Amino acid sequence: MDLITATAAFIEQKFADEGSGHDWAHIRRVWLMARRLAAHSPEANPEITELGALLHDIADWKFHGGDYEAGPRAARAWLLSQHAPEDVITRVETIIREVSFKGLGVDTPVSSLEAALVQDADRLDAIGAVGIGRAFAYGGHKGRPLHDPAVPPVAHESFASYQKNTAPTLNHFYEKLLHLKDRLQTPAARAVAEERHAYMEGFVARFLAEWEGEA
Ligand code: ADP
Ligand code: NI
Repeated sequence: MDLITATAAFIEQKFADEGSGHDWAHIRRVWLMARRLAAHSPEANPEITELGALLHDIADWKFHGGDYEAGPRAARAWLLSQHAPEDVITRVETIIREVSFKGLGVDTPVSSLEAALVQDADRLDAIGAVGIGRAFAYGGHKGRPLHDPAVPPVAHESFASYQKNTAPTLNHFYEKLLHLKDRLQTPAARAVAEERHAYMEGFVARFLAEWEGEA
């Protein structure tokens, strides 16, 4: 079995019972999208891109007491067990460190094309129809209301402020989701984002109209 197939099988079984939004279905979509974006980027190394996508959420720091090295460490352990070369391991670790969104006011630069593709694929999964579904699933999981017109959205300038947020789910569209299309790194991802973004804008407009008994 090649390294990508083995990694996909490993992650699929590891995330089989995960209900936090970082389930295998999310990782699979990010993997498929990263592969699609890589096909438009001839300079990208497809193996590094696919491994980065498959391993990007392997040990999310949110669930590991804020330990940002938990993900890279878990990826390294897996890749070492598969006898992957050191340069592949290092490049995948870097992707995992660089992928996450950290609030509107926080830059999240990438140091490789492969990291750009994985970051873009992860962000594309937060917008469009699936992104809308994920946002409300997350909000429901946290017990938050759908919407509260009395709670204005906040442009989080720091990672700490973004993390502390407990706002109603519709605010998340203004605080993150509607900005993602302008924060993509690659032209191929920007092309995919157009339709997803327009769909989400239409959704929010209808949501607000229905909220007031209109539409
Ligand atoms: P990433 O995949 O970049 O690690 P997160 O872990 O922040 O993203 O989020 C996972 C999913 O949950 C995404 O679809 C995201 O939009 C959604 N989400 C995160 N925070 C919120 C929130 N405060 N309200 C609603 N949805 C959220
Ligand atoms: Ni992700």
